[in-house]
Amino acid sequence: MSDDDVELEARLEEQEVFEPSEEFVEQANVSDAAIYDEFEENWPECWEQAADLLDWEESYDQVLDDSNPPFYEWFTDGSLNASTNCLDRHLDERGDEAAIEWVGEPVDEDNVTLTYNDLHEKVNEAAAALRDLGVGEDDVVTMYMPMIPELPIAMLACARIGAPHSVVFAGFSADALATRMNAADSEYLVTCDGYYRRGDPLDHLDKANEGLSGVEHDTDTVVVDRLGPNGDDFGHDLAANQHDWGELMAANEGAEVEPVDRDAEDMLFLMYTSGTTGQPKGVKHTTGGYLAWTAWTSQAVLDIKPEDTYFCSADIGWITGHSYIVYGPLALGTTTMMYEGTPDHPDRDRLWEIIEDYGANQLYTAPTAIRAFMKWGPEYPERHDLSSLRLLGTVGEPINPRAWKWYYKHIGNEECPVVDTWWQTETGGMMVTTLPGVKDMKPGSAGPPLPGLDVQIVDTNGEEIDPGRAGYLTVNKPWPGMLRTLYRNDERFIEEYWAEYSDTDSSDSEDWVYFPEDGAKIDDDGYITVLGRVDDVINVSGHRLGTMEIESAIVGVEGVAEAAVVGGDHEVKGEAVYAYVITEEGQAETEEFRAEIVEAVEDAIGPIARPEQVIFTPELPKTRSGKIMRRLLEDIANEDELGDTSTLRNPDIVEDIRQVVQGD
Ligand code: WT7
Repeated sequence: MSDDDVELEARLEEQEVFEPSEEFVEQANVSDAAIYDEFEENWPECWEQAADLLDWEESYDQVLDDSNPPFYEWFTDGSLNASTNCLDRHLDERGDEAAIEWVGEPVDEDNVTLTYNDLHEKVNEAAAALRDLGVGEDDVVTMYMPMIPELPIAMLACARIGAPHSVVFAGFSADALATRMNAADSEYLVTCDGYYRRGDPLDHLDKANEGLSGVEHDTDTVVVDRLGPNGDDFGHDLAANQHDWGELMAANEGAEVEPVDRDAEDMLFLMYTSGTTGQPKGVKHTTGGYLAWTAWTSQAVLDIKPEDTYFCSADIGWITGHSYIVYGPLALGTTTMMYEGTPDHPDRDRLWEIIEDYGANQLYTAPTAIRAFMKWGPEYPERHDLSSLRLLGTVGEPINPRAWKWYYKHIGNEECPVVDTWWQTETGGMMVTTLPGVKDMKPGSAGPPLPGLDVQIVDTNGEEIDPGRAGYLTVNKPWPGMLRTLYRNDERFIEEYWAEYSDTDSSDSEDWVYFPEDGAKIDDDGYITVLGRVDDVINVSGHRLGTMEIESAIVGVEGVAEAAVVGGDHEVKGEAVYAYVITEEGQAETEEFRAEIVEAVEDAIGPIARPEQVIFTPELPKTRSGKIMRRLLEDIANEDELGDTSTLRNPDIVEDIRQVVQGD
């Protein structure tokens, strides 16, 4: 580092508040601080502003119906179609502009630009093809695909015919696919033969087929041919109930499908996410509220304008990709990028190369990625001209101030505001973050709640607590993008998100409080620092994993008696999976057995859940009532000072385990 750099680093390290540049503010979609008061005074009608970003077939009667909390309804009796909003209405003005810039793995240089006209055409053909297969309104169509253009095409095709989609992340296991298809009674699957990872073809249909063999009802599958001849080695033959995507599309060439008029409250999609119990939760999002929410936040927070080229590096298999690669950006008529590959192939400057080539204006990524970039060093972004960037965003987990500042300096050249956006699968879109054209930024703190949101930090009794103290984050008023329920499980919906802080006997919406299960603190300016999950969910590289799901995979291995899984700090991943395992009498605690356990987790969930360490132990620390003391296991994983062990039934075991893990 030069002396200048050292000086700059030192200054940055000290600085706690950053102002957006005048240049940014002048052009920002939202730049008037009055919006906070306006929305508060005019609640819930303020959300008409979000609804106004959409084209409605039938306009709504009421902004919010809160007569039956927590089953809120937004924009009641309004109707619209999400694919019309993302496609048809842009054709006149932007038909020849790029809707999706798809950057494939650099195998055969087959990048694809889909203009709004192209995308509209393909979505219509796909909608006709799905109908031919028998997909009707409200039939759930599962998608198990990596980042290929057919994924958003299939999603929008479903939206066009009113069939909710349920996208399963391609990195998830066959078991995970089967669980989700069974839970949703989904009779249709769209998948692909395989895809490329770091240049090599990877079999995907094999995994999909294995998943399908665990589905309890009849299914039809559509298979996209991603690999062409490079997939020949996998030797796949399609079964009678499996159809080739390309053939179906060709058979429907030029088809036009009238968009189905959907009620604002009709389901747009389902997304399964991990919770405290082993069974994933089917989060239900609606057509009107969700689309309005993602469009409004894309405009206000990501500052997206139609002429922008916007790049979110998430995977569409997660909510970030649904809301901020597909629905929000396309609703605004902008150009959204999709990248199939990884950030380090063929080299560690891949993202910077893409940003330079396409002149991307925003980058929305995750702290885990930023920490990896930091580790690789600034020489990679320095090779490229990143001056097209106007705004940076992060999502998925808390970002430490050092990573925030690195991002701000080395990617944004100290000119781009950084929005640290807190939200969840369940919230549909962003909730707590600075409005980049209005608010100063404080690294490490996501910022104030967005206008129109009522977020509080409370103690265990639900009382608001003083600034600076750690408590629980709650949302005290409904918002349009919120989940409506857990699919076919209203009871669990109430139990998981509302029971903690609500008067569940009340029919007054003021008595209902949403609890996202995150810990947080607030400062004197109302900026919120999210501390992380307070349930048995861990966050590995921004991916949410239920410890129970992992534990149940481990105890399924023959020879395992009991298991406890916790998250331990990890430099790049944020958290990593630590598995404490008690073996059965006579089971040898070998490396092979460890490998078997790791494999069982990968089979049940996917490689993202792979334990960092499998620790054999004769006992787990338990309270007298038999509850596992996870906190202590976390302390051991983190090499933290051990918490109180006095309430344990077996206090000695803690020191024994610590020695095994830390080795002294
Ligand atoms: C959990 C939600 C939101 C889309 C990606 C993850 C954590 C998310 C932040 C942030 C601190 C964050 C929370 C949340 N989280 N964003 N900016 N700062 N924590 O969606 O899989 O539903 O996970 O991710 O713990 O509850 P998800």
